[in-house]
Amino acid sequence: MDYSRHEHDVLVIGSGGAGLRAAIEASAAGASVGLVCKSLLGKAHTVMAEGGMAAALANVDERDKWETHFADTMRGGQYLNNWRMAEIHAKESPDRVHELEEWGAVFDRTKEGKILQRNFGGHAHPRLAHVGDRTGLEMIRTLQDHGVHRGFDDYQECTITRLLKDGDRVVGAFGYDRENGQLRVFHAGAVILATGGLGRAFKVTSNSWECTGDGHSLGYRAGAELIDMEFIQFHPTGMVWPPSVRGILVTEGVRGEGGALKNSEGRRFMFDDIPPLYTNQTADTPEEGWRYVIGDRDARRPAELLTRDHVARCIVREVKEGRGSPHGGVFLDIAWIKDKVPNGAEHIKRKLPAMYHQFKTLAGIDITEEPMEVGPTTHYAMGGLRVDADSQMTAVPGLFAAGECAAGLHGANRLGGNSLSDLVVFGKRAGEYAAAYVNENGRGTVSEAQIEDAHREAMAPLEREDQSGGAGPYAVQFELQDMMQEKVGIVREEKTLAEAVEDIAALARTAEGIGVMGDRNFNPGWHTALDLRHLLSNSEACARAALARKESRGAHSRIDFPEKDKEWGGFTVVLQQDSEGNMEVRRDPLPPVRGDLQKIIEEQG
Ligand code: FUM
Repeated sequence: MDYSRHEHDVLVIGSGGAGLRAAIEASAAGASVGLVCKSLLGKAHTVMAEGGMAAALANVDERDKWETHFADTMRGGQYLNNWRMAEIHAKESPDRVHELEEWGAVFDRTKEGKILQRNFGGHAHPRLAHVGDRTGLEMIRTLQDHGVHRGFDDYQECTITRLLKDGDRVVGAFGYDRENGQLRVFHAGAVILATGGLGRAFKVTSNSWECTGDGHSLGYRAGAELIDMEFIQFHPTGMVWPPSVRGILVTEGVRGEGGALKNSEGRRFMFDDIPPLYTNQTADTPEEGWRYVIGDRDARRPAELLTRDHVARCIVREVKEGRGSPHGGVFLDIAWIKDKVPNGAEHIKRKLPAMYHQFKTLAGIDITEEPMEVGPTTHYAMGGLRVDADSQMTAVPGLFAAGECAAGLHGANRLGGNSLSDLVVFGKRAGEYAAAYVNENGRGTVSEAQIEDAHREAMAPLEREDQSGGAGPYAVQFELQDMMQEKVGIVREEKTLAEAVEDIAALARTAEGIGVMGDRNFNPGWHTALDLRHLLSNSEACARAALARKESRGAHSRIDFPEKDKEWGGFTVVLQQDSEGNMEVRRDPLPPVRGDLQKIIEEQG
């Protein structure tokens, strides 16, 4: 076996916002850090959180405070959230924003020179610190600059295929370079998974090719539990036309800046259905859409800024009932605000430069003049590895997770803007606690037998005779994506979910027999064959959890169980491997919310 070996205290897998922030913190604590990225440093789904980073800075509305942010997050997550994570997140986000500013992030400003904040769905106050509509990009740039100077070894275009263990404990990882197939063994006292989401399991997605949920399934295979896997966020606004760009994100920032959703009859259909969790108040200026109220009675928001799960379902309803746009979406109109603000067109371009450019170049649409066509796109997984709220360690010693591949903070539905703050709040904590763990426990040992096993597994698609009937990895991936979109999508039911579980099992059998031509050099077929294991196991977790949850809540919507069911509010679905390696679904009680936090929820409700 021709592998190279690398020794670190802490190995971070994934180099988006959470991974970079974890690497910075572990390095600052004196740990030697390795940072593995599946693609190039700086290319991460973090950049798709465009509209901003939620933090109760109270720069635009002085009534904002951590308690309100906490209550909004819990309400948005339909109270399935890990309340301790929601508390930490709301309390620590402001510090993380200021830290990014100190490290060089250039946020937009208020007239007084403070960090500017904008409205976003489900937030009671303008709360999103932003850089136009490129906030995630600025975050990555800032963390990357800071991290490179802080010091870590980075391994770019490197895919991890297996976590390595010493007894119960994780002590490293096995992987390979995508360019030339060079094999790598990483030995580390602690491993932090920060691999992001799994959107590539679906056909229409804002996620890029890397987002195959590697961390979800690596952690699961190493013995960690997955929770909330049924909750997939379909962002209400992705591009729908032309077909080649279907799914690309249209930031919620458009609606935050006043964008109106309209159907083919020109009606702002979001006003037709305001859910009971959000107070429905008579419109005082209906043409401007100030209609629904959350929290403080004076904090009015347009109905387009209801939570994403709800907005996505309303769009699906309009399309299904024949009131959609020509290409199967609805209209998103920001041009209407032109007459309401000085230098209207310039104002839109300044607030939403990336959107202006995106629609101009990809769809030939000038958003300062015409409405956009938009529809839901798979954007984010609320589900992921179960972690301890304070330390981010999973139940597997030495294995930590942060960012999208960790679960708990967002419950049944994430509020827009809470992901960027999640990444840095919990990335920092994961880095800190992982470094401390290594200080206490040392690095452990990696056995040759495990390395050989991981090697065998990674090489299998190249070495076996094809037994898939020539299916090939891409065909399996496309079939999986079509099937997940259709059967485990925005609206679900028993029959199709049960079919999905069977379909996934059949695809997994095919995938196990795939033999790939060529060798380890520049071989995307091999990469896809290996990624398929992650996609299939995450899809199975999602479908099984969705089948088990017999109610509708947040991002999980069942036509056969259309109501929220109190009984299910007390439980979350957990998936773990049984002794045969099969997936088991379990329901665990949610721990009761701490008294002082419960009081906040009741007061802000
Ligand atoms: O719409 C957006 O800009 C996405 C933000 C997020 O997912 O947090």
